[in-house]
Amino acid sequence: MILISPSVLASDFSALGQEAARMEACGADWLHLDVMDGHFVPNISFGAPVIRAIRPCAGLKFDVHLMISEPLRYIEDFVKAGADRITFHIESDSPAAETIEKIRACGCEAGLSVKPGTPAEAVFPYLETLDMVLVMTVEPGFGGQSFMPDMMGKLRALRAECSRRGLAVDLQVDGGIGAKTVETAAAAGANVFVAGSAVFGAADPAAVIADLRAKATAAFPE
Ligand code: DX5
Ligand code: ZN
Repeated sequence: MILISPSVLASDFSALGQEAARMEACGADWLHLDVMDGHFVPNISFGAPVIRAIRPCAGLKFDVHLMISEPLRYIEDFVKAGADRITFHIESDSPAAETIEKIRACGCEAGLSVKPGTPAEAVFPYLETLDMVLVMTVEPGFGGQSFMPDMMGKLRALRAECSRRGLAVDLQVDGGIGAKTVETAAAAGANVFVAGSAVFGAADPAAVIADLRAKATAAFPE
C-alpha cells in the first residue's frame, strides 16, 4: 500500500497541533515526527513531550523517526507520548534486536533505518521482526536536502529479500522526496514516502499529497 507521511520538521513549530490537523485534512496517511538529539545527528528538534502535546490534535498514525544515540532508553517515553510506529537507526548505540523487542513489547510497530553509508544487508537479520525498513535518501539531520538516487539499489535489494522470504515489510524513503523523485523511489520498491519541504512548502499541500500518491502508485512495481 502506498502511504504519504509528511514530516513536521518543515512545518510551523509555533502551531504544531494545527499543522498536524491540517495534514490530516489534506489527506496525509501518516505524520512523520523527526526526533534529533544533537548527538546522533548535528541538529536538535523535539522530543516526547512535544509529541504528547500534539497527539490529541490529529488521528493520523504517528510515525516517529528517532535520530538519537540511545533509542532503547527512550522507547517507553515515545510510546506513552502516542507513537504508533517507532523507527530507530541501526547505527545508534542501542542493540537492534533488544530495541525492536522493546518497541513491540510496548504494543508499538517497529522500524529500522539505515543511513546512506550503511548497506541494506545490515538489516537483513531483523526483517522478520520489523514492520518497516527506512532507507535514508539524505544524510539524516536536516530537511530540504537533495535526494540521493544511489540509494535505490538498497531498496531493490530489500524488496527482493522481503519477497524471497514472503514478508510484507514496509519500505520507507526519507529525504528529498517530491514530485521529481517519488517515482524513482517507488519504482525501486519504496511504498512509504516521507516528505517535509515538498508538502509544507507548497501552497496546496493536499494537491501535493495526492500527486505524490498518484505518481508512486503508478510507478510501484507489481
Ligand atoms: C531528515 C529527516 C527528514 C526530513 C525530510 O533527517 O529525517 O524526515 O524532514 O525533509 P525533506 O522532505 O525536506 O527532505
Ligand atoms: Zn525522518
